[in-house]
Amino acid sequence: MNTVKEKILVLDFGGQYNQLIARRVRDNNVYAEIKPYTASLDEIRAENYKGIIFTGGPNSVFDMSSPHYDKAILDLGIPVLGICYGCQLICFMKDGRVETAETSEYGKIDITVDKKDSLLFEDIPDSVVWMSHTDRIVEVPEGFEITAHSDACPVAAMENADKGIYAVQFHPEVTHSQYGSRLLSNFIFNICGCSGDWKMEGFIENTVNSLREKIGDKKVVLGLSGGVDSSVAAALLSKAVGNQLTCVFVDQGLMRKDEGDFVEKTFTTMFDMNFVRVNCGHEFVGKLKGVVDPEEKRNIIGTEFYNVFWNKIREESDGGFFAQGTIYPDCIESGKGDADKIKTHHNKVKMPDDIKFDDVIEPLRDLFKDEVRKVGELLGIPRELVWRQPFPGPGLGVRIIGEITEEKIRVLQEADAVLRDEIKKSGIENELSQFFVVLPDVRTVGVMGDHRTYDHLVAIRAVTTDDFMTADFARIPYDVLAKVSNRIVNECPNVNRVVYDITSKPPGTIEWE
Ligand code: XMP
Repeated sequence: MNTVKEKILVLDFGGQYNQLIARRVRDNNVYAEIKPYTASLDEIRAENYKGIIFTGGPNSVFDMSSPHYDKAILDLGIPVLGICYGCQLICFMKDGRVETAETSEYGKIDITVDKKDSLLFEDIPDSVVWMSHTDRIVEVPEGFEITAHSDACPVAAMENADKGIYAVQFHPEVTHSQYGSRLLSNFIFNICGCSGDWKMEGFIENTVNSLREKIGDKKVVLGLSGGVDSSVAAALLSKAVGNQLTCVFVDQGLMRKDEGDFVEKTFTTMFDMNFVRVNCGHEFVGKLKGVVDPEEKRNIIGTEFYNVFWNKIREESDGGFFAQGTIYPDCIESGKGDADKIKTHHNKVKMPDDIKFDDVIEPLRDLFKDEVRKVGELLGIPRELVWRQPFPGPGLGVRIIGEITEEKIRVLQEADAVLRDEIKKSGIENELSQFFVVLPDVRTVGVMGDHRTYDHLVAIRAVTTDDFMTADFARIPYDVLAKVSNRIVNECPNVNRVVYDITSKPPGTIEWE
């Protein structure tokens, strides 16, 4: 059952920005859903879309093996906006002329708006747009007029306003297109007549309904890491099917202080589900004994985690579905978004061959991180989990340099807890993208009271960044650093020195291993 009143369809022709288009529509408080171009006309007709956006794609409309669509879609009376390949496709479907240009047009390009009273270009002056194409329209179909052009592209935009068909050769969805957001909202409101009253609550309601429909009375198993994404997926599934859901939480002993208990308490007290916790910290440390090479440590932690997790799933699973908290950026990272091949289903789970489920469920796969956080807040997940900073899969394992021992884990957890506490109290938490303590395998001489000490050194790492690809060390005020240092050496046994990492990335990485 679909309860969203107003929806825009993003018809996917394989472009790399499809999810971004949907997200930009949602930013206007209008729900957007993506369907592959293989969706049938009847299916589209049945959904009462307020508008349809044809996405870009890597193909050429001349190549008949590339995605095409039933021309009748342009006669449904639903406004259509074609973007890039979608623009050429409209031209092709309506018997205009598309040709392959000698040189591609790529990057930021100036366009001139030719039709000042176009509803699509309302309040949009001549401006910069993002182009990425080789084919171009040279003759618009009958009934269409050119609404914008660039030096190299005679038809940067065209429309048949009477029929509600609009097309742009450029990408309004990327931020490089100066008035791209305005153009999309012009389409949504001026042309499709949407009212913009959709809220994230609508996504939750819709997703919960379709999860119930799909899962029926079967079981569903979810791997819960305690991170934002799997936590939000768990809460959504719990809302949908309650204790038909089993969450498997593997605590490999490498989480931050008390974190495993916090995750368990949150999900066992606030949500209806079966919560299975596997405590295997001891075994992990055993496997890591004597290992100092960072890659080898990562491998061991990864392999061990995989084995423990799937062994537990073998015990817990009783057919049904396997769920995971994949979000949209995970799909790009694993190749989906950039693929020049259209995929209608993407399954990243490397499942052992002997484990079988009816299907994999990824309820957050269309959302971006900030949207996932919003869903999490609405579902009542504690702030600490929803706004949790990134935490590496191998956990504290990559923050203890050299051999990992239970004693070192404890020292690091204590020091890290002090840092987190002081940063929270100082009120600068929101200014930092990530902050943590590292335990290098270094001991230094110190003096405490009248005694000489020879104890651990810990390092504070704190960064600011937008994308984690580059980062700067955070300028934490000295008085906050002083408090952290003072508390760590006083409260954490076996630590007698605190240093602050002032390396940016590059050349350093954020983590030390
Ligand atoms: P680096 O150290 O590469 O980290 O600058 C960039 C971001 O990625 C996180 N990170 C990891 N996350 N598994 C993960 O899930 C890992 O092995 C891993 N290594 C680094 C890191 O915390 C930072 O946010």
